[in-house]
Amino acid sequence: MQEQLNANQQEALAGLEQVQDDDGLQRWKVAYLGRSAPLMQTFDKLGTLPKAERPLIGRRANEVKQALEGAYADKAESLRQAALQRSLQTERLDVTLSGRSMPRGRIHPTTQTLRDLNRTFAEMGFQVYRSREVESDEYNFQLLNFPLNHPAREMQDSYYLDTGRTPGENPIMFRTHTSPGQIRAMREYAAENPENPPPIRIVLPGMCARYEQITSRSEMQFNQLEGLAVGEYITFGDLKGTLSDFARRFFGQAVRTRFRASHFPFTEPSAEMDVECFVCGGTGCAVCKRSGWLEILGCGMVHPVVLQNGGYDPRRYTGYAFGMGPERITMLRHRIDDIRYFWANDLRFLEQF
Ligand code: PHE
Repeated sequence: MQEQLNANQQEALAGLEQVQDDDGLQRWKVAYLGRSAPLMQTFDKLGTLPKAERPLIGRRANEVKQALEGAYADKAESLRQAALQRSLQTERLDVTLSGRSMPRGRIHPTTQTLRDLNRTFAEMGFQVYRSREVESDEYNFQLLNFPLNHPAREMQDSYYLDTGRTPGENPIMFRTHTSPGQIRAMREYAAENPENPPPIRIVLPGMCARYEQITSRSEMQFNQLEGLAVGEYITFGDLKGTLSDFARRFFGQAVRTRFRASHFPFTEPSAEMDVECFVCGGTGCAVCKRSGWLEILGCGMVHPVVLQNGGYDPRRYTGYAFGMGPERITMLRHRIDDIRYFWANDLRFLEQF
């Protein structure tokens, strides 16, 4: 019996050496550790053995069983390792291959400038007021003190909707500036309390259009940022102080500003503000056309007729307004030499910002 067990163990271990794969391993297990394997039958037969032999044979059978189970586990592990090595070789992932890049969108350079402007004015107490792009002749011109056929309209020809109406009958048009928003805002604020309209401090950003000869300096579509402050005892000194403060906040604390007299039908007096050229520092260069100054915005005290049209009594209220072109400001900031880039949808331009 002992002999048989020893032979059985040797045969089994030798057989295990030959096993190459999982299938072979399973077959080996059935043959040597399965129900009908000779070793297992030894356990069944223990009861039929003479009493004296039972412990000896039983112990030996257990030793063989443990040896075979141990060898089986080792073999299973080494097969598993070999399979892993094979799959690492054959399913190798080349992590040095560069990936496919995902195109990412970004914010248009003018929108970036508009957001910076809004933020700067917000810090100074101005709220953002959104007014409509499509306007009527009445709001775009007449209520802003441009009478019909006034020559100042010449500078702001626009796109009219073909509504079958003749000009002068208040046709629908794309706004040529953000100034009609002044009237819309004043009327909305005044409606809150017509007897005592509340003070106003707002900026009005947005798209405008003009029927223009397109050149490197003027486009038919562009943004503006309007500003409006209305209240009691607002003076030209407030206008100058606020806009100089804005220039320092926006262009840097050291920047110098100057105001030049100008004309707009809806402000009186009117001015234009220049900032010292930050390209040459005021000594004169190509960007400032050798003048040392860059024109930034138009401004003035709100005309009494405009206050009246907005529902604010000009005997009691005064105010100032200003308007600037964010594309122009973006051009100065980044030294862009042609305004047509902004709406040409050329990624080579847009991806630089
Ligand atoms: N609306 C004027 C323009 O487009 C700018 C402006 C706004 C001037 C407000 C004065 C006050 O040229």
